[in-house]
Amino acid sequence: MSSIPSIQTIRPARTFQGSVTVPGDKSISHRYALLAGLAEGTTRLSNFSTGADPHSSLGCMEALGATIVHREDRTIEVTGTAGKFIQPAGALDCGNSGSTMRMIAGLLAPHPHTFTLIGDHSLTLRPMERIRKPLMQMGARLDLVDGHAPITIHGGPLKAIAFDTPIPSAQVKTAVLFAGLQAEGTTSLSESVRTRDHSEHALRAFGATLTRTGETLSIAGDQRLKGIEATVPGDLSSAAFFLCAALLFPDSNLILDSIGMNPTRAALLDVISALGGKIKVLNVEEHHGELIGTIQVNVSPNGLKGIDIAGALSAQIIDELPVLAAIAPYTRDGITIRDAKELRVKESDRIALVAQNLKAMGAVFTEFEDGLAIPGGQQLHGASIDSGSDHRIAMAFSIAALRANGDTEIHGAEAAAISFPEFFTQLDSLCQR
Ligand code: S3P
Repeated sequence: MSSIPSIQTIRPARTFQGSVTVPGDKSISHRYALLAGLAEGTTRLSNFSTGADPHSSLGCMEALGATIVHREDRTIEVTGTAGKFIQPAGALDCGNSGSTMRMIAGLLAPHPHTFTLIGDHSLTLRPMERIRKPLMQMGARLDLVDGHAPITIHGGPLKAIAFDTPIPSAQVKTAVLFAGLQAEGTTSLSESVRTRDHSEHALRAFGATLTRTGETLSIAGDQRLKGIEATVPGDLSSAAFFLCAALLFPDSNLILDSIGMNPTRAALLDVISALGGKIKVLNVEEHHGELIGTIQVNVSPNGLKGIDIAGALSAQIIDELPVLAAIAPYTRDGITIRDAKELRVKESDRIALVAQNLKAMGAVFTEFEDGLAIPGGQQLHGASIDSGSDHRIAMAFSIAALRANGDTEIHGAEAAAISFPEFFTQLDSLCQR
């Protein structure tokens, strides 16, 4: 359970300075948890995400026969099932986590049991047909309720397919790769927009072979995985809130240690630079294919410009769009976001909630079906914010509140614990008032 109070009051800040280490990357933590559960032997994971979502993945692995030990040094040890999941005693609870539900579906489909995947209210509203289609093509039987969870998987042997992902989605790609790893034959998959490639790196780390030729990934079936030792890089999508806060103050100075800088996630850094952030990257290292470095950011003396975000870029920074929208009024030229319709089917309808909360803070903007156009040069005022139980909305508007006139109340603030339980404490330590 989260210890974050449901209502958080955010006071405006004078500046934003300091150094923090954000929790381990949510996407990578999920993948390591799931693959560790399937692998043979024990996997030791340092800096595993403290967010509730990856713990939903761990909980499912435990129900499937893996052993999970939380060590005092915050290392998590997962002893896997050596390729043989057991029939779980009850439904597998994915909580709020779309990543858990979609990726685990692919991992489970080749196993000869019946699995039921459930989640909270938000997860039950999210589209699941996108994973059913490829898995059915591979020979799996999945029952959905009107395209949504609960999902019942009648597992059994799968056959390789060639699949073109119709929507850019790393979760769908991962479901297919995880199923392909255990299918008969070689599965290939093409994506038009290159989505985050943590699954590819994680699969290789656990000993699987997969190849990429141009836009096509191929994975042979019937491969076995072996447990690993790994450190999860800090989560750039969590760091994004602080990077955006640093942009709001001319004399800010922020240092983020051990941050994941995988190129398929790092487009955000280009956006921060385009807006007027000055970024220095230091000490870059590679662990299991993932780049980790220290980032220092401050603001160019010319202040914040603006940016138009569309096309592939929208898909690549989809999780960071709410916070960019929330700081847009404080830029000089505004921020326009298009081609981001997927935002409407995340943990909430993020376009609608960003619009509602920007309005509450006094901003003018235009809402589109696939985005928002938010003019710059606007001064916001403190307001009552509704997170809609969405972690990224709660955190995005906490950042907007730092430059508002007056205090802002974030309602449903406890949602931050889904990805970043330490958010409000770290935010407070970085703000000077
Ligand atoms: C994720 C992929 C993205 C992202 C989500 C995490 C992942 O979703 O929005 O927060 O870990 O693969 P889609 O795969 O639906 O694009």
